[in-house]
Amino acid sequence: MGSTEIRPVRWEGNVLVLIDQRTLPGEERDVVCRNVQDVCSAISNMTVRGAPAIGCAAAYGMVLAGREDGFDDAPKDVLGRAAKELAATRPTAVNLFWAVDRMKALSDQYPDPDALRVVLAREAQTILEEDLASCRAMGDAGAELIPEHAVIMTHCNAGALATAGYGTALGVVRSAWAQGKLDRVYACETRPRQQGARLTAWELVRDGIPVTLISDTAAGSVLASGRVSLVVVGADRIAANGDTANKIGTYNLAVLAKENDVPFYVAAPMSTVDLSLLDGSGIVIEERSREEVTFCGGGRIAPEEVDVYNPAFDVTPARYLSAIVTERGVIRAPFQEGFRRLRKPR
Ligand code: MRU
Repeated sequence: MGSTEIRPVRWEGNVLVLIDQRTLPGEERDVVCRNVQDVCSAISNMTVRGAPAIGCAAAYGMVLAGREDGFDDAPKDVLGRAAKELAATRPTAVNLFWAVDRMKALSDQYPDPDALRVVLAREAQTILEEDLASCRAMGDAGAELIPEHAVIMTHCNAGALATAGYGTALGVVRSAWAQGKLDRVYACETRPRQQGARLTAWELVRDGIPVTLISDTAAGSVLASGRVSLVVVGADRIAANGDTANKIGTYNLAVLAKENDVPFYVAAPMSTVDLSLLDGSGIVIEERSREEVTFCGGGRIAPEEVDVYNPAFDVTPARYLSAIVTERGVIRAPFQEGFRRLRKPR
């Protein structure tokens, strides 16, 4: 499989098939989801992760709700229950709620259970296809910001694995590479779950894109060395003013980038923009288990009794962003105005 063909979320026959992102890069395997509960578990245990990919998986969770007991008698109730369960899996990525709401709204228009099942399946496929198209459009829009012989730093995994395919931040990387502008990527390891080391490095090595893996603690000195042309990261939720929630450690990079005069870009589809929040203070930050921090590579690295704080995301204030790359174009501050312009129907 060529790496541009990585498809982490697939509907095959009657089941949802997910690339198991917990076992990469060691083992490439799929996980099959046959009901809503399977999809909820896959999102919370991070079999599928990355904001747009979570949204796509949740949309198919709603399709699977069409098979639950009671759907024929009370489709709206069953769909409402599934929506609640799916929405409770992870709190930060807004794409999850965006996709679930979009699917749930169909039950108002289609009260007949058979008709509803058909439109649910069609809508989930549309969400998936739209995301893939958005990633390609974002990649091309973002590549225009990339100078010749660019060296790009990225954090976490905002790649094909985190989307329907191609990626957001890694979409920009892929398009820049295709245009012959990219020399190298620096991928931050991204403790505690190491999405940079396990997933970004895996995707780029597959694509033959030169990648250097660094520990998160090396990012400051690499940025200060003058080797990096720009930083590009993905997002889990962007507030109306441009404040951006993304993987923990993104804020550190943004501050270090500003200190060293390195442009800092966020690449995300409009489905990641939450205009109901004026700024980032209202974004709920997920806290994950203590074991993610006290264990590494399967081995304990901290005393059993130690207190742990493990936020999965942080919020980078908009003032650190040089621009936001969306599928509808690149916007610069003031971001609220830019979002309003992009939201207008064309
Ligand atoms: O906890 P994760 O792995 O789901 O976090 C993923 C990120 O923070 C990504 O950068 C973000 O979702 C954008 S993915 C295109």
